[in-house]
Amino acid sequence: PCNVVVLISGSGSNLQAMIDSLAAGDTPARISAVISNRADAYGLTRAAQAGIPTAVLDHKGFADREAFDSALIQAIDAYAPNLVILAGFMRILTPGFVRHYQGRLLNIHPSLLPKYKGLDTHTRVLEAGDAEHGCSVHFVTEELDGGALVVQAVTAVTPGDTAQSLAMRVHQLEHRIYPLAMRWFAEGRLQLDGDSAMLDGVPLPACGTL
Ligand code: GAR
Repeated sequence: PCNVVVLISGSGSNLQAMIDSLAAGDTPARISAVISNRADAYGLTRAAQAGIPTAVLDHKGFADREAFDSALIQAIDAYAPNLVILAGFMRILTPGFVRHYQGRLLNIHPSLLPKYKGLDTHTRVLEAGDAEHGCSVHFVTEELDGGALVVQAVTAVTPGDTAQSLAMRVHQLEHRIYPLAMRWFAEGRLQLDGDSAMLDGVPLPACGTL
């Protein structure tokens, strides 16, 4: 099976969605480790409950991003993963790190990229008066929240929405599309080809309805 390492910083609800979808048994993958940069990340508890080894690498213990990222590479590569999944990992990664995992590093971001890179996406969507919001899975490249799109999910913004209600709906969508992208990769169907993600040899993103 595809050997996956998941990086988290917080609640780990996306990690949980992956654990649950792997338990269903139709994805040829296993999560060999969960690594957090924060010791208090609840996702570490989720991993332990699922019997997955965990490690904490606190970025505050390192002089700079380069030193942290090379220690992180060592910690990850101890598990020799085929795929590294960023699931709410709230650190900017160095170009060297991103290059090291080129084509096998996925991220999820709570916006319809290329819109709203960075933080506070739900608030910014409301302030802009957008009719639609959503989330995106993408291969990671050196540009922050850039990279080749794999799959997006969309929700309509309604007049009563708040940043909280949007965050909740976007999370629910994330929990559907991230396990899907993991499954495609594990099945050998998803690849990064130059600037484009390919599914079964066809450039992504494809459009669908959840
Ligand atoms: C998710 O909404 C994810 O899109 C976001 O962090 C949250 C993690 O939730 N990621 C980013 O903002 C990356 N720039 P989780 O810990 O419950 O999976």
